[in-house]
Amino acid sequence: MVKIGILGVGTVGASVANILESNADIIEARAGKKIIVKSGVVQNLSKERGVNITLSDNPLDVVNDPEIDIVVELMGGVDEPYSLVKKALENGKAVVTANKALLAYHRYELQEIAGDIPLMYEASTAGGIPIIGALRTGLSANHIESIQGIMNGTCNYMLTKMINEGALYDAILKESQDLGYAEADPSFDVGGFDASHKLLILASIAYGIDAKPEDILIEGIENITQTDVAFAKEFGYEIKLLGIAKKIGEGVELRVHATMIPKESMIAKVDGVMNAVTVVGDRVGETMYYGPGAGGDATASAVISDIVDIVRGNQGPMLGYKKGLESGLKLLSKDDIITQYYLRLEVSDESGVLAKITSTLGEFGISIESMLQKPSLQKSRAKLLFTTHKTKESKMQEAMKSLSSLTVVYGDIAMMRIEK
Ligand code: HSE
Repeated sequence: MVKIGILGVGTVGASVANILESNADIIEARAGKKIIVKSGVVQNLSKERGVNITLSDNPLDVVNDPEIDIVVELMGGVDEPYSLVKKALENGKAVVTANKALLAYHRYELQEIAGDIPLMYEASTAGGIPIIGALRTGLSANHIESIQGIMNGTCNYMLTKMINEGALYDAILKESQDLGYAEADPSFDVGGFDASHKLLILASIAYGIDAKPEDILIEGIENITQTDVAFAKEFGYEIKLLGIAKKIGEGVELRVHATMIPKESMIAKVDGVMNAVTVVGDRVGETMYYGPGAGGDATASAVISDIVDIVRGNQGPMLGYKKGLESGLKLLSKDDIITQYYLRLEVSDESGVLAKITSTLGEFGISIESMLQKPSLQKSRAKLLFTTHKTKESKMQEAMKSLSSLTVVYGDIAMMRIEK
């Protein structure tokens, strides 16, 4: 018999306990051993949790319990779970965590501390989708050429509503929070940080890149307006918040941002709270994984898959390699990203303005692919919308600064990257 202790018996923790109980027969058949939850830890003992397990409010009751074989960490946060996971590993216990923020900052240290003790994290990225297993095991024969994913259900829900129903940003943010997918601080969702944590985890398994959120380009969906949505529709794009990892020569681009993608692409069709990740391997070609990225039972399904793997003895090194993975690959600078861009500017509606804008772009070697002028709500102004051919991020940033300084340009210039 294998005994589990759960740190954090909230929605996911309660689902883990309940599924282990209600699906006990099939899980035992698959794992080869009976698995029971011995105890759990919560902050507030007076709150009803709907589980048949002993609860404590002291995490050390689980971490130091000699009878517990596997500690499941579902607390959230970074510092406290880090010290508890470390302690559990030092006590020789296997650990399963769903904590993406913990891994975004400490995955390499934890791999070191874990050594041969299993530390698994399927639920940390894209909830119920087995993307960690796919990358660690399923695609282990391949050099990974790229990963592109919708890794935040809250943003995808908001964008779907903005695009399909013309919903306004503020109203839809409130609605998406009511769905229960949003992070405690919703700026983690809409600012792209949650997706960046997941992208960093995937990039470690795929490329061995040891980066932190501060090292990569992260933008959210806060500045997207119905004007951008209308432009995207007119030019055949969907708008998605994507986590993107691309191998380019000896480097890897890692970035999270709102992206215009052709509406006929598979990932463009993923709507609502669902997540999807495409991975291109050099031998397998393009593969795609789709499913619920959050929610109690979906996330618990991933947590239990890790428990089953540990009980079967299938674990292997945490990130899927001990050393030498793609050795020499470097994280590319944000400035070196090369892609197509969409720009939205509010300008004076008078003669010579368009020429000024296009010649400024030309000064930075930026070539225009398409252009649209729309009326502005402000009198004597117009909205100019452009897409460009491929250009370097640093050039685009410089051009935007220069455009902003023109007296005929009002307010901030909105920019979105395009991936085809
Ligand atoms: N806030 C996340 C989302 C939950 O919206 O996808 C899963 O990590």
